[in-house]
Amino acid sequence: SADGVHDALNRPLRDLRISVTDRCNFRCVYCMPKEVFGRDYAFVPREDLLTFEEITRLARAAVACGVEKIRLTGGEPLLRKGIDELIGRLSAISTPAGRPLDLALTTNGSALTHLAPALKAAGLVRVTVSLDSLDDTTFRAMNDVRFPVRKVLDGIQAAHDAGLGPIKINMVVKRGLNDHDVVKMARHFKETPFVLRFIEYMDVGSTNGWRLDEVVPSGEVIRRINAELPLEPVEPRYVGETATRWRYRDGGGEIGAISSVTNAFCGDCTRARVSVEGRLFTCLFATKGHDLRALMRGGCSDEELASKLSGVWRVRADRYSELRSTQTPDLPVSRAHRIEMSYIGG
Ligand code: GTP
Ligand code: 5AD
Ligand code: SF4
Ligand code: SF4
Repeated sequence: SADGVHDALNRPLRDLRISVTDRCNFRCVYCMPKEVFGRDYAFVPREDLLTFEEITRLARAAVACGVEKIRLTGGEPLLRKGIDELIGRLSAISTPAGRPLDLALTTNGSALTHLAPALKAAGLVRVTVSLDSLDDTTFRAMNDVRFPVRKVLDGIQAAHDAGLGPIKINMVVKRGLNDHDVVKMARHFKETPFVLRFIEYMDVGSTNGWRLDEVVPSGEVIRRINAELPLEPVEPRYVGETATRWRYRDGGGEIGAISSVTNAFCGDCTRARVSVEGRLFTCLFATKGHDLRALMRGGCSDEELASKLSGVWRVRADRYSELRSTQTPDLPVSRAHRIEMSYIGG
C-alpha cells in the first residue's frame, strides 16, 4: 500500500539503520570492551561487507516499502572508506511521496572536525554524536583509547558550522562511571542548539558484562536535573520516538531520555537494521538475521528484494525490551546468542 508494509503488531516499517563497518577507533567499555575486541579480534573481512552498490540498492528497496529515515551506524561509520560517496548515492534516492529522505549518521565524533564539510556536501542531513562525559579523565576511561574530549567537542562544533543539524548528543549513563556528570552535561548543553539525550545502559550483545545495578533509570536522571534546572515534559515529535522529551522551564532548550530498560518503547518500534554483511534484523536483540547479501549476489531483481523485505517485516513480532521488563531476571534471549551492537549497529 501507499503507507508501506506493517508487521504482525501493526507497526509500519519507517526507519532503516545500516551498519557500514563493525570497526571502531574507540573501545567504549559498554560496547567494545578491550579484553574482547583486542589486537586479534576477527572483524568482518572487506570482501564480506556490503558494497556501496548493494547498500544503495537495499536502501531503495526499503524506501519502496515505506522507509523515510535512513541512519548510518557502525562501529564507527566514518571509518568506512569513501563514506561520503555512499552518502551521495543515498541522498539521491527519491521517496514515493517526493518527501526528502531523512539521512542521518551516528558517530563518536572523532573525525568530524575534518569530515563535516564533505559529509554535508555529499547530502547528509544530520549527525548524532555520542559523548559520555565532559571530564577528560572520565571520557578517556570510557572510550578506553585515551581519546581527548576536546577533539569531540570541536567535532560537534564543526558539524554544527557545516549545517549538519539539528544535532543530538547521546550520553550512555553507567552507574559509578559517568553518572556524576549528568547535571554537568545538562548545564553544558543548556542554551545551545544541541539536544542532549541520556541513554540507559542496555544489555545488548554478550560481552559488556551488563548488570542491572549499573543502569541509571531515566527517572533518576530527570529528577536529578530537575532539582537544579526545572523541567517540564514535551509531547513526542513523532510516533515511535525513542526519547521522551523534556524542556527547561526557563526556555533554555530541551533534553531527552531514552529508557530502553525501565520503559521499553517496542510498541511503536518502526526500526529495521542491516548488519555490515547485509543481514536484516528486525530487532536490536534479534539472534537471527535474514541474508539479503546472498539474495543480491544471487542475482535477484529489485522487486524480489523489496518483496523479501516486506515479507520479513510482515511477520515481525519482536518486542524484546518489553518482554525483558516483564520477565526479568529470566531474559527472553540467552546472552550468548545475542548480536554485538558494533556488528548490528546502534
Ligand atoms: P532520532 O531520529 O534522532 O530520534 O534517532 P534515534 O533516537 O532513533 O537514533 P539514535 O541512534 O540517536 O538512537 C539513540 C540510542 O537509542 C541508540 O544508540 C540505542 O542505544 C537506542 N535505541 C535506538 N533504537 C533502539 C531500538 O529500536 N531499541 C532499543 N532497545 N534501543 C534503541
Ligand atoms: N547501552 C546503551 N547504548 C549503547 N550504545 C552502545 N552500546 C550501548 C549500550 N550497551 C550507544 C552509543 C551510541 C550508539 C551507537 O549506541 O552510546 O550512542
Ligand atoms: Fe565505538 Fe560507538 Fe561502540 Fe563506542 S559506542 S565503541 S564509539 S561504536
Ligand atoms: Fe524495537 Fe526490539 Fe528495541 Fe523493542 S527491543 S524497541 S522491538 S528494536
